[in-house]
Amino acid sequence: MPPTQKELAKLAGVSAGTVSNVISGSTNVSERSRQKVLEAIRVLNYQPNLIARSLRTNRTRTLGIVVPDITIPFFPKIIRGAESAARVRGYFLIVLDSEGSSDREADMIALLRAQRVEGILLVTAGSTEAFPDRLNTSDVHFPVVCLDRLPADLHVDSVCVDDCGAAEMAIAHLMSLGHTSIAAITGPLSLRNEQERLRGYRQALQRGGRKFDRSLVWSGSFEQEEVAKLCQGGMLHPAGRPTALFATNGVTGLAALRSLYSIGLSTPKNFSFITFDEINAEDFFRPSITSVVQPTFDMGYKAVELLLDRIEKGEDAPRRKIRLPAMLKICESSGKPLKPVPARKTAARKQTGSKTRAHR
Ligand code: RIB
Repeated sequence: MPPTQKELAKLAGVSAGTVSNVISGSTNVSERSRQKVLEAIRVLNYQPNLIARSLRTNRTRTLGIVVPDITIPFFPKIIRGAESAARVRGYFLIVLDSEGSSDREADMIALLRAQRVEGILLVTAGSTEAFPDRLNTSDVHFPVVCLDRLPADLHVDSVCVDDCGAAEMAIAHLMSLGHTSIAAITGPLSLRNEQERLRGYRQALQRGGRKFDRSLVWSGSFEQEEVAKLCQGGMLHPAGRPTALFATNGVTGLAALRSLYSIGLSTPKNFSFITFDEINAEDFFRPSITSVVQPTFDMGYKAVELLLDRIEKGEDAPRRKIRLPAMLKICESSGKPLKPVPARKTAARKQTGSKTRAHR
């Protein structure tokens, strides 16, 4: 016979209520009692029946998160933060991948609702469809927090970085180094965070008294081949090569670097380079890559806190938009501009020493 909660309470020397509180993840238990119960659980090898508990309490203490692509390292980091916050509050997190498809996203949301999750964290697949429809429910008050890629018609709590400000900071850094010809390669401009980052690029140029040159904006895809075509076309343009390139996300940034390296151009030798998002293989990347680093763990953590607040307080609580600061991590790939050289010729440039520092 599996052990009962009564037996746990007896062994731990606490009341049955305390055992039940520990098992349900309630914070209303002293740390000492919690440890005693956990030890009794271990000794008796107690396995709580969560399904029975859910039926009894009509609560599943389960949340769901849907991300557009689990293979992009950015998203597992968000999930780690979310899972960590959920665990602290006694919740369990189900992770699903929409694979960038709005239809699949709708299915995933329906699946989570069918599992009776108490709330959903959503990084949209980028659909332009009306937001409540995407939630696949007539119940528009179901607790949802959107993260990172926010839908245009946002009417729920949200967490992201100041995409525009962070991009502006990156371009300002390049301008402070003396760059005047700065190109931008973007992801799909149907995504709102991509639009915001491009707005930051434009704004920085404007503030620096530079004219916006449309031919220096190469947009926009996450696909290697498409990015390669845009970057190589832009960098080898007969009108000459920009001295710096800014990528508005890590996937596009990595694809850009790959494609430019493959035609013999490298950073910072031939062009300075900054990307949004850390390129994960950075320890092996020589030169190291200057990047706009998003606080991914904190984004996930904060999003769960917002979601649990919403679950507890209901619809009456005011809607919250959290904008976390991103950080510019300056590495070796951004340096002083080269002297302008005609396209297709190798630039002669004295390699400058590099230092790594971070600032906000
Ligand atoms: O690399 C993934 C990109 O998509 C990141 O820039 C992130 O913000 C997401 O939207």
